[in-house]
Amino acid sequence: MQALVVYFSKFGNTHKVAEVIGAEFRTRGEARVINLNELAADDLRGVDLLVIGTPTHRMNLPEVVRPIFEELPKRALRGAPVAAFDTSYKMSKCLMPFTAAKKLVGKLRKLGGKKIIAPETFFVEDRQGPLYPGELERAKTWAKLVMRRAGLG
Ligand SMILES: Cc1cc2nc3c(=O)[nH]c(=O)nc-3n(C[C@H](O)[C@H](O)[C@H](O)COP(=O)(O)O)c2cc1C
Repeated sequence: MQALVVYFSKFGNTHKVAEVIGAEFRTRGEARVINLNELAADDLRGVDLLVIGTPTHRMNLPEVVRPIFEELPKRALRGAPVAAFDTSYKMSKCLMPFTAAKKLVGKLRKLGGKKIIAPETFFVEDRQGPLYPGELERAKTWAKLVMRRAGLG
């Protein structure tokens, strides 16, 4: 397995989740964890599982990450299995549809990725964190499920 976990993180919480997912993937193969700001088209080559996570900002993707997807070549993912997560507050039900992970899925599809699992949210207690107790454990469990859905677990 050649997995890639890409994250953007303002205060470090999304980065922590990404590292836990990467570590879980490494129990089954190779996995790199890289910052979205450093992502280049070359990094996507040969990847058989891609996971991307960012925080939710203003019910959307953080503004700084939006142009990065436009710069990548169309169909760069060539049908690779993809999954997306975000970190967010625990919101009321009516606001739950507006998460970064849902937006990420759209971006990944445009790049030719194949969605294998519903977007997931890991919850922070406050703007700068921390993550709620148990969220990193939940991230580990989610990573196992992502591998299974990709046929790599
Ligand atoms: C400018 C800004 C806007 C935010 N808007 C939302 C929001 O709309 N919904 C939400 O659940 N959390 C929102 N948050 C909280 C972030 O999701 C939280 O800071 C993030 O999960 C922490 O992850 P990080 O440590 O990786 O940056 C916002 C945070 C910032 C800084």
